[in-house]
Amino acid sequence: MEDKEISSLIRAEEERQAETLMLVPSENYTSAQVREALGSVLTNKYAEGYPGKRYYQGNEIIDKIENLAIERAKKLFDVPFVNVQPYSGSPANLAVLGAICQPGAKILSQHLSMGGHLSMGQEASMTSKYYEASYYGLTREGDINWQELEQQAKKCRPKIIFCGGTAFTKVFDFARFGRIADEAGAFFVADIAHIAGLVAGGAHPSPKDDAHVITTTTHKTLRGPRGAMIMVTKKGLEKEPELAKKIDRAVFPGLQGGPHENQVAALAVALKEANTPAFQRYTRQIVKNSHILASELIRYGFTLIGGGSENHLIWIDLTNKGLDGWTAAWALEAAGIICNRQVIPFDSNSPYYPSGLRLGTPAVTTRGMGEREMVKVGQLINEVIECARKMDLQDIGNQDKEKDQKARKRFKQQVFKQPPLLQIKIEVKELCQKFPVP
Ligand SMILES: Cc1ncc(COP(=O)(O)O)c(C=O)c1O
Repeated sequence: MEDKEISSLIRAEEERQAETLMLVPSENYTSAQVREALGSVLTNKYAEGYPGKRYYQGNEIIDKIENLAIERAKKLFDVPFVNVQPYSGSPANLAVLGAICQPGAKILSQHLSMGGHLSMGQEASMTSKYYEASYYGLTREGDINWQELEQQAKKCRPKIIFCGGTAFTKVFDFARFGRIADEAGAFFVADIAHIAGLVAGGAHPSPKDDAHVITTTTHKTLRGPRGAMIMVTKKGLEKEPELAKKIDRAVFPGLQGGPHENQVAALAVALKEANTPAFQRYTRQIVKNSHILASELIRYGFTLIGGGSENHLIWIDLTNKGLDGWTAAWALEAAGIICNRQVIPFDSNSPYYPSGLRLGTPAVTTRGMGEREMVKVGQLINEVIECARKMDLQDIGNQDKEKDQKARKRFKQQVFKQPPLLQIKIEVKELCQKFPVP
């Protein structure tokens, strides 16, 4: 039966993705081969268990697919063990917690308000109900606050120290994390969700020699399907020889049921694509593009957390522009530039109306955009923000909630009608047309 409603919505979304600048740093364009595997008959199959040990019949081919994904991941990341079944990044981190910690165990991670991720013990996440989380933050310069991390590690003696989050613009010093974890007797879990592609492509150091466990989503810079992996390193197996088995048991049957083997197959495809010189060039270009875009934004007077970008991600503090992240993100969307709002370190605003924005270059680099285009994108972003600053912003951010909400509603109605933004949207579309989605 044809479903015209859904097919036309998919087509509309395809068009939106083609005609706008996708600058959300955690998004990317997958290849047709990845999507072919995702949309294949593999979605029809139940395969609870692991290759060679399934609870359902008919898994001979599925076993081969999952084994291929595992072998490709082990080779690409140079680790002795990989579980490719986690449905996504959050369940992957939960499975690691389940494998290593008893309920009530202490854990230490980057605080949500400082760019950490929910799944690593944040207050709003269920993980904080089962584990006693402490946090470390960033310095005002956007570095890891090492002093705080070391003090917390000594004071709490956590079972796990997590590294990784949704906003960090520098190169991770995994060796330093590893040393602090070793001194505290903790497992060091490196969540490389954002930078997995950069690590695979050699554009960011790998945590394989310093961490005991590595978790990652597969759909960001790695350019695979939505999903996740959990890896155990040589160092991890030395610390706990049963760690791989514990991870497997924590994923299934501990947390999940049947793995999504269409997703596993699509991941296998992405891992093959990532193990090529072309992918290595791609990841180097992501970083180059991010550096150039960051430098352009600084030239236009934007304040960047970390003072620039050493990876794929740019984190803007909008305080000096007199706009919050919500307002800026809607103005950018009205001009066809898609990014996301983000709290900044020591933010006095709420996470829903934070003071910052987060952007990144993985998706536009997949389209083939380079240095010249990044200069243009910087100019367009600046034009949008300048236009938004001239709009009626009265009462946005007012302590009186009713006034604030009324002002935001008015802004949203007006922003999509602003002639300068509509003009920029045309320019964005023209730029996008020159760099078709693969
Ligand atoms: C560092 C990090 N870990 C975990 C996750 C969770 O991934 P998912 O959204 O697939 O659950 C994210 C998602 O943004 C992330 O940035």
